Amino acid sequence: MFISFEGIDGCGKTTQAKRLVGALRRAAVPVIHTYEPGGTRLGRHLRQVLLDTRETAPTIRAEILLFAADRAEHVETVIRPALTAGQMVVCDRFADSTRAYQGYGRQISAEVIEQSLQLATQGLEPDLTFLLDLPVEMAVQRLRQRGSPVHRFEAAGLEFHHRVRAGFLALAEQYPTRIRVIDATRSPNDVHTAIWQVAAARLTPPLL
Ligand code: TYD
Repeated sequence: MFISFEGIDGCGKTTQAKRLVGALRRAAVPVIHTYEPGGTRLGRHLRQVLLDTRETAPTIRAEILLFAADRAEHVETVIRPALTAGQMVVCDRFADSTRAYQGYGRQISAEVIEQSLQLATQGLEPDLTFLLDLPVEMAVQRLRQRGSPVHRFEAAGLEFHHRVRAGFLALAEQYPTRIRVIDATRSPNDVHTAIWQVAAARLTPPLL
């Protein structure tokens, strides 16, 4: 099973992906935890270019292709081999991030976005996606509290992040069986419980 976590910056998905992986390991489920951008050696170089505010920002089409390159490498060398070996894959961001950030955020047509995704993933989609949803203002507050250096996307401005959030919610309507919207305004424990209930019920045999 391939599970992705999605949401705007500051939604808490990295914490929640880690907690799900921990719970799966305690249940003796073989699982790898990986992420985009940057889940491979090539990807770590691309991540620096994509997120570094000191770098000259790539043009929008170049940005799409850099995310596609990161994802192509990741799918071929990490995700597919793990799935083939019978491992579960939990991935922090996947194709929906490109749909939401480059499609809705940067306002690039769905046709161009889907072409880039097809090239990168060869049609691989997660079996289950957790969309951690919360208002942009709350996410910004959480990012400020975190105090880590702000990257290029985080600095993109409120309007951009409102479009990205709305984009993710539109995707959840478009893919209702794959994407589960999780209310991320709640405490980390409550969010984890909601995620665990869905994930455990989907396993065969179900853990719940
Ligand atoms: P992420 O690693 O989740 O950020 P953080 O280090 O804050 O946890 O993602 C980095 C940024 O890249 C995030 O702002 C979303 C953006 N992004 C895209 O714009 N398109 C994509 O396809 C992906 C995977 C990420």
